[in-house]
Amino acid sequence: MSNIREEINRRRTFAIISHPDAGKTTLTEKFLLYGGAINLAGSVKGRKAARHAVSDWMEIEKERGISVTSSVMQFEYDGKCINILDTPGHQDFSEDTYRTLMAADSAVMVIDGSKGVEAQTIKLFKVCVMRHIPIFTFINKMDREANDPFELIDEIETVLGIRTCPVNWPIGSGKSFKGVYDRQTEVISRFIQGDNGHKTDVVEAKVGDDGLDELLTHELHEKLIEDIELLDGASDEFDIDRIQKGELSPVFFGSALTNFGVETFLQHFLKMTTAPLSRTSDAGDIDPFDENFSAFVFKIQANMNKAHRDRIAFMRICSGKFDADQEVYHVQGGRKLRLTQPQQMMAQERKHVEEAYAGDIIGVFDPGIFAIGDTICMPKKQFAYEGIPTFAPEHFARIRQVDTMKRKQFIKGIEQIALEGAVQIFQEFNTGMEEIIAGVVGVLQFDVLKYRLENEYRVEIRMEQLPYEHIRWIENKDIDVSALSLTTDTKKIRDLKGRPLLLFTHPWSVNTVLDRNEGLILSEFGTN
Ligand code: G4P
Repeated sequence: MSNIREEINRRRTFAIISHPDAGKTTLTEKFLLYGGAINLAGSVKGRKAARHAVSDWMEIEKERGISVTSSVMQFEYDGKCINILDTPGHQDFSEDTYRTLMAADSAVMVIDGSKGVEAQTIKLFKVCVMRHIPIFTFINKMDREANDPFELIDEIETVLGIRTCPVNWPIGSGKSFKGVYDRQTEVISRFIQGDNGHKTDVVEAKVGDDGLDELLTHELHEKLIEDIELLDGASDEFDIDRIQKGELSPVFFGSALTNFGVETFLQHFLKMTTAPLSRTSDAGDIDPFDENFSAFVFKIQANMNKAHRDRIAFMRICSGKFDADQEVYHVQGGRKLRLTQPQQMMAQERKHVEEAYAGDIIGVFDPGIFAIGDTICMPKKQFAYEGIPTFAPEHFARIRQVDTMKRKQFIKGIEQIALEGAVQIFQEFNTGMEEIIAGVVGVLQFDVLKYRLENEYRVEIRMEQLPYEHIRWIENKDIDVSALSLTTDTKKIRDLKGRPLLLFTHPWSVNTVLDRNEGLILSEFGTN
């Protein structure tokens, strides 16, 4: 048992989020490098080599029919066992991305110093805030001309609505980037741009010392003194409690590509985060150190090989130890089973796992029995974890099958795909499944839906995009939905569980409808 405690205690599980191109992949690779999980030689060249290796592996995965979007990587650093959950950013932004955040205990937000806060970061950030998980900010690409650092943190505070606390502070940027000043240790890490790449040098000099004029230039040294004064007066104080509640984000400046500031970031990050915390269930909070294994499914990955409809269910272990031989209980399915072909990702390698601990993510073979949010626990201690919220889709389309004889396949296919969580399916308010409305978070999911229905279920469909962009679940239990006073651009629909919802074209209609219907409670998230 003490071994289990130790193993859980050294687990750290975080999601890495960013807008595409901010440097998430580069930063992840550098983390893995520190963990010794991958072998990279220099900076740029090594990184390319590593990326090449990663994409080779992706090809293999594709051949085997498993999409790689769900990368979970594990590595060891300084006695800690760290799980990184990669959130697929890019155009293929989908609910999966949101759900991945439900499986993490903290988030690292990568921001491009020359771009500031970008659209997709805002979306992802909302979920982190909803979960009150600690959020660490890494402002990247300081080796390029960046925006003013005060403007950058001001933007994070106003756009994302979280207070910040810079842990280090940049000295210049781009061609004149001289390094960062650590506000806690008051030490300067110098960034030296040489002909053959970059070097880091730590200077133990106090700000104001004569020698610094020469190292930093007089102008930047003066600016640093001013900046520190301003920061000490105006920024929030470092407060670990507020950080752990997700109210205050520690901010770090660096450059992932040149590997500057990455290791110090990792070290601070490990000090400021905790081992897995308890999670809410219908039997109260479950302690991760409880010896009974439990987990919940946060992602289901369809096998792209259409000959086999099997899938992989990714689960986050929330308590105890997973043992491949043990019999477990699938709460929603109401039966005992053994989890087959459990696997885990170690950097680029997918490997079979015999044991794993709270904080870890495992993927298991799913013959089509698991759904997102399902709980797996020990037969002797049964409970269900709180459901994963259904995130608000932002694009809607009406879907009809072309050949009406294929009704059964159509319904089956669409229900299966919805179960995986790739799309959300709704019905017209007053009719049955004749007309289906599909809702997605990322518009690319419509193409995926069409492709999969045609290829896996042999059903051709017609899709008509609808103008709605905002969805709200009606939370009131006893309400006569047909009696509601709505605006002309509002549509009533139902989800597959029969719960009533409203679709709006304009965001202001949401408020109008709330004003017109006293006591009406609308929510942006439905719970599975
Ligand atoms: P992502 O996963 O967030 O989408 O970003 P990724 O790491 O792929 O980085 C996007 C681009 O930004 C890459 O350039 C990468 O080399 C560059 N980059 C990442 N971190 C830094 C940094 O600290 N400084 C500078 N100057 N550039 C950085 P690319 O040209 O798209 O790819 P590649 O040709 O370098 O592979």
